[in-house]
Amino acid sequence: MMKKSKFVCQICGYDSPKWLGRCPNCESWNTLVEEVIRSGKMQKPIAKGSKPVPITAVAVKSEPRVLTNLKEFDRVLGGGIVRGSLTLISGDPGIGKSTLVLQATHRIAKNGMKVLYVSGEESVEQMRLRAERIGAADCDTLMALSETNLDSIWESMNSYEPDVAVVDSIQTTYLPDLASAPGSVGQVRECGAYLQRVAKGEGCAIFLVGHVTKQGVIAGPRTLEHLVDTVLYLEGDLHHQYRILRTTKNRFGSTNEIGVFEMSIAGLVEVDNPSQAFLEERSSRTSGSAVAATIEGTRPLLVEIQALVSPASYGMPQRVATGVDYKRLSMLLAVLERRVGLRIGNHDIFVNVAGGIRIDEPAADLGQVCAIASSLLDKPIDPTTVLIGEVGLSGEVRAVPHLEKRLGEAEKLGFAKCIVPHHNLKGRRFSMDIQCVDVREVNEALRVLL
Ligand code: TYD
Ligand code: MG
Repeated sequence: MMKKSKFVCQICGYDSPKWLGRCPNCESWNTLVEEVIRSGKMQKPIAKGSKPVPITAVAVKSEPRVLTNLKEFDRVLGGGIVRGSLTLISGDPGIGKSTLVLQATHRIAKNGMKVLYVSGEESVEQMRLRAERIGAADCDTLMALSETNLDSIWESMNSYEPDVAVVDSIQTTYLPDLASAPGSVGQVRECGAYLQRVAKGEGCAIFLVGHVTKQGVIAGPRTLEHLVDTVLYLEGDLHHQYRILRTTKNRFGSTNEIGVFEMSIAGLVEVDNPSQAFLEERSSRTSGSAVAATIEGTRPLLVEIQALVSPASYGMPQRVATGVDYKRLSMLLAVLERRVGLRIGNHDIFVNVAGGIRIDEPAADLGQVCAIASSLLDKPIDPTTVLIGEVGLSGEVRAVPHLEKRLGEAEKLGFAKCIVPHHNLKGRRFSMDIQCVDVREVNEALRVLL
């Protein structure tokens, strides 16, 4: 029988008919990945004889889109699902990927479109139970298939001709032509490429579900990211109910858009006003709590940053960051120590973003330092004040983008005052009721607040 696959070194391109631990050519270890040997026919360019055209003569047709009417989901995708697109939705195991995709595709099926949900992890009975739980077991056009062999999946797709198909998960799917185990880099990549051709060829939108583990992403769906049109991440803390859906790549819309959901006993529920939800449990009169206005994608989000500073009883003081970057926190602590003169060197410091959400934006720096200072001095920050500003190494408060959006969100939620970077204002006036206090340095902000 003719061999259908080969092993190719990812560094030098050397290929071998069998797997080798070390590449005999470049001598690197563990770099041989299995690939399908393509017949000459498939290596042809996509459109034979295509010619360059002047960019002014290119007609733009809008992508036909399918709305799921799950508002947050549609928005993150850039306005619905594009026909013939390949979307990867990844996240930690158990975070709610299958639930989200089932909810979204069920709504499409309810509108009369054909959906094929292929699960390699669950039996059709288990899928039915999940569907009952989220109220999605009432639609004949939503077909369930429990299968891992991609050739069989293709047969089912070919006979049912769905508008939208889900492959859950890409790590359990395999091509029988390859000898490597499902979930290996070779399998994941070849299955992805296969489904990419199916999506483009048949005009069927395909969702791939992929698990990402915090440690090993090597054999994970990361290898697919360059291949798919859209990459979505579903993230959140397993111990909290909130889930954030992010795009990190989108050929049909803007990236860094987020959607916020809450995991309930009957599936994921959209959170219409995330800022309000994240601030709900705030206690107003304790020290160490500050509200920061951040921007996630195009959307302002108010979050509560909590800090607890207490004298270290013995040994090395601890620094624990939850929801903020640890290195950034270390830098901010150094600024507080050297530029502001707060003695925190032998204190344990815990910083936490309430609600289990993660904030990477430097505009939340001022919120962090003020929460820490507030806890150290045991003086509460006025609960109707919002903090905005990036903190630099000399203790200066630096300008941030989209100030108006942040102020608008704060005003909407009833905040009365906002500490903003001086360089952002520069004499500008906003037609808002919220009072803006501009500061140049962290010192100045602390003087206003504490
Ligand atoms: P699931 O979608 O299976 O996660 P993934 O596909 O990302 O691995 O969801 C798993 C968790 O969500 C599971 O622990 C149970 C919980 N869950 C709910 O809380 N409510 C629900 O309605 C459903 C369907 C699941
Ligand atoms: Mg799942």
